Amino acid sequence: MNIPHESRSKRLMSVTDEQHERLHVLVAQQAPFSSLAAYGHWLDVQFRFQYRIASLYHWPALGDLLPELPERGRLAAVEADLRDLGRTVPASGTLAEQPRQDPEAWGWLFVSEGSNLGAAILLKRARALGLSEQHGARHLAGAPEGRARHWRAFTAVFDALSLDAAQEARLQAAAKAAFAYFEVLLQDACAQQVQPEPELAL
Ligand code: HEM
Repeated sequence: MNIPHESRSKRLMSVTDEQHERLHVLVAQQAPFSSLAAYGHWLDVQFRFQYRIASLYHWPALGDLLPELPERGRLAAVEADLRDLGRTVPASGTLAEQPRQDPEAWGWLFVSEGSNLGAAILLKRARALGLSEQHGARHLAGAPEGRARHWRAFTAVFDALSLDAAQEARLQAAAKAAFAYFEVLLQDACAQQVQPEPELAL
């Protein structure tokens, strides 16, 4: 019998499904699209995440396999969004370091590229705040050829990577680490929002 082979990207989606679900819950709790102030915290989160992986989009070894990789990075878009809203771009010294090895890099890129699929829904919510792909919500924009096609161009290369079992495990661990990192950033942002007002000294 011919058993269909599940692609790496599909497998990884299942493996990280629980983490993705947790992000939905956190986003629902944090309600980053309920006001411009809350959205500002969302931008800080996106900035920190994109900053951590920005240089991966320029790795020659990865770009040899996916030539349009540099154009996929969204750090510049988030920076522009922060400026649109009059927010400060965080100082780079305070930000986490990037991954350093190929399988890890692919794991982080998978999560970043995948996050652009759900961004279609988020962009609609951002529009309700008066934002757009040209102002404040640039990082949520879809690719000119469409999100699905853009994703498939990524997974075509991603799924065809030739990795041994140890590298595969490292890629998977990195994808989980990327989701976990985003979750921590969101939780921090939540905590900042719900901090009680300091008590007045009478
Ligand atoms: C940091 C990473 C990610 C974040 C913050 C994120 C967040 C979200 C959010 C908030 C939604 C909208 C849920 C709703 O309100 O209905 C969503 C939907 C979605 N996400 Fe993610 N996601 C991430 C990564 C990924 C990855 C890696 C994939 C795939 C490999 C993915 C695939 C999808 C899909 C297919 C949807 C539904 C889109 C639709 O129904 O049109 N996401 N995501």
